[in-house]
Amino acid sequence: MPKSKFLCVFSLSLLFLVSLACFSAAASSVLDDLRLAGSSFPSVHTKKLIRELNLFPKEEVNVVDGSRVSLMEDPKLVEKRFKFPNLAVPAGISVEDLGHHAGYYKLPNSHDARMFYFFFESRNSKMDPVVIWLTGGPGCSSELALFYENGPFTIADNMSLFWNEYGWDKASNLLYVDQPIGTGFSYISDRRDIRHNEDGVSNDLYDFLQAFFVEHPEFANNDFFITGESYAGHYIPAFATRVHLGNKAKDGIHINLKGFAIGNGLTDPAIQYKAYTDYALDMGVIKKIDYDLINKLVPVCELAIKLCGTDGTISCMASYFVCDTIFGGIMALAGNINYYDIRKKCEGSLCYDFSNMEKFLNKKSVRDALGVGNIDFVSCSTTVYLAMLVDCMRNLEVGIPALLEDGIKLLVYAGEYDLICNWLGNSRWVHAMEWSGQKEFVASSEVPFVVDGLEAGVLKTHGPLGFLKVHDAGHMVPMDQPKAALEMLKRWTKGTLSEVSDSEKLVAEM
Ligand SMILES: *[C@@H]1O[C@H](CO)[C@@H](O)[C@H](O)[C@H]1NC(C)=O
Repeated sequence: MPKSKFLCVFSLSLLFLVSLACFSAAASSVLDDLRLAGSSFPSVHTKKLIRELNLFPKEEVNVVDGSRVSLMEDPKLVEKRFKFPNLAVPAGISVEDLGHHAGYYKLPNSHDARMFYFFFESRNSKMDPVVIWLTGGPGCSSELALFYENGPFTIADNMSLFWNEYGWDKASNLLYVDQPIGTGFSYISDRRDIRHNEDGVSNDLYDFLQAFFVEHPEFANNDFFITGESYAGHYIPAFATRVHLGNKAKDGIHINLKGFAIGNGLTDPAIQYKAYTDYALDMGVIKKIDYDLINKLVPVCELAIKLCGTDGTISCMASYFVCDTIFGGIMALAGNINYYDIRKKCEGSLCYDFSNMEKFLNKKSVRDALGVGNIDFVSCSTTVYLAMLVDCMRNLEVGIPALLEDGIKLLVYAGEYDLICNWLGNSRWVHAMEWSGQKEFVASSEVPFVVDGLEAGVLKTHGPLGFLKVHDAGHMVPMDQPKAALEMLKRWTKGTLSEVSDSEKLVAEM
């Protein structure tokens, strides 16, 4: 049995190499022109990409020696209320009042995997919706969003925490989960638990959610929304579908899923990879002559993605390497730009500096407050990233129409200066999606998204579907436009996103 398995893996890799070789031959002239031929494609290139997409993979993956850890046996979910050190809390506010929780959940469908999460009760009202946030990567911790985007606080250089005026906990009971397992403070002690696809990811999230609402039955009737960014453009539709199927099958606790939102996500790779050169040309990142050249790669990429489909394996890996030459080609010409925000330079190897988060989460006082024992913090896991590569080029748009038909809302939003998951590619797949309201959605006109009397973005909606292009923002919209992002969350969850007030009409006329 083990023998045949090895053989199988071997012959599959061979197939993979052959398909790569075929592609290399076909595209070599283009690559020569792009002066990429010397980059020993694909291995060096792959490593480079991993560095690019993983912000700082210091640790490979959060694997612990089982004998070293005895955080918990039973029960399956262990949660504690905590207060972060260095957080100034108004006098008279107890840890109980604060409503900040951290916990571990032992995943039932695993040999030994524990999922870490934060839960911040709303600063406004316990009746606010429950919102879960998923950071992408794949393999990056959701704490990146917690501390740099939409969490309750920000970290100062001296490690003091300051309340974020625009934290999403001002309008929701907010969950951050470290997943897929092996990311952040989530850990495994058996490598067989590493996830490779959206089934694994969405089942773990669903199991966690069930356990969470058992722990917090007082929130189970609240509206529930799934949100996230970047590679979560894959996780979110899969997770929403999993929840919806669970509800339909009357499995466990009914989860009051009302909608899902994807920020600068990767959802429909065929459309989004084709949009790279158009976006880069429109934004002046590349010239027309380079555009024509790189576009020669597009048909091969489209074919490769078609072969990958929704559940290919080797074909999906191959399409990843094939299609990535498009992005690689643009970046080779663009110079030192930050592909998360083309207005900026990539500073250091990470493009952004998130080192305060690492410093903060490795402080003993913080780790004691969270109850994470001796578990390391892995901000972005290379192993999780590589394990999910096979999933990367699969099309996750296919499950969305069924959710829309059942009245579950989708908001796709995108900061206009992001290249890697740019607004153009996102807008195109949202428009191309076939569902009963497609015609009306396509025909509906754009309206300004007005915050404080200023146009913060351009919005298009019909029925349960919305698309918002956010001005003056890159990949991480809540980091760049915190106020507009909170306003977006408030209006969307309340169902008032497309309502245009008189003052907004005035702005539109101006
Ligand atoms: C930390 O820095 C902030 C400014 O960024 C300052 O307001 C605060 O007083 C400092 N805290 C300590 C303990 O030094």
